[in-house]
Amino acid sequence: MNVPNHVAIIMDGNGRWAEKRGLARSRGHLEGSKTLEKLAIHAMDMKVKVLSVYAFSTDNFKRSQEEVDYLMNLFIKMFQTKFDKINKRGIRVVISGRKRGLREDVVASINAIEEKTKENKEGILNICLNYGGQEEIIDGAIKLAKDIQNGLDITNFKREDFYHYMYHELPPIDLLIRTGGELRISNFMLYEMSYSEFYFTNTYFPDFDKSEFNKALFMFENRDRRFGGISDAKNN
Ligand code: IPE
Ligand code: IPE
Ligand code: MG
Repeated sequence: MNVPNHVAIIMDGNGRWAEKRGLARSRGHLEGSKTLEKLAIHAMDMKVKVLSVYAFSTDNFKRSQEEVDYLMNLFIKMFQTKFDKINKRGIRVVISGRKRGLREDVVASINAIEEKTKENKEGILNICLNYGGQEEIIDGAIKLAKDIQNGLDITNFKREDFYHYMYHELPPIDLLIRTGGELRISNFMLYEMSYSEFYFTNTYFPDFDKSEFNKALFMFENRDRRFGGISDAKNN
């Protein structure tokens, strides 16, 4: 099976999942967090090496204080206790996004989970929190500018080299999934998705289980990725 090396998921539809059941939006976020824990382990079982997930965008601060607080407290709880299985499975957890603007206790829990899992080698779970794709490019450009000021020679600077300036030096995204039915990117990993295959589903994230994930993998296997060239079959 041709398995994508790096899968990214825009985990959307938690609120609508809850509203449809007459529950508070927060309940959807709680169910979504359980789905994430199971999916991360399943993705590694399927031989995916890196799973990136969009947990909170820089623009999600536009939501009510109550919802933002609930989510921040949920992240702390996840990193402190719920990720035990993920750690035991040998998955390294990294967080992408701006720490500036986050509560101190959230930053402390981010540092703790990154530290706790840093020697894990089975795969990487990259959680995008207070994350924006344009912000990541800007922050990277600023780091690069500093290196240039310090004498870095950029005569032969290539697009691959810019990955070094992203929050974590992760590989390009092969498969991008968005749950919840919207057909947009919402400022997710813009630099990393330049040649990724897209998979959109109406399923709300809490319902996006292993079999739904496998459907996306199956679709990926049948895509003809050409990267600007001509498919192998026609190339002789
Ligand atoms: C995604 O679900 C999770 C976050 C953005 C934190 P939403 O909360 O956006 O759910 P919908 O789109 O309102 O259903
Ligand atoms: C994208 O979902 C962000 C996350 C999944 C964390 P949103 O619900 O914030 O995106 P829009 O507002 O529908 O574009
Ligand atoms: Mg949404």
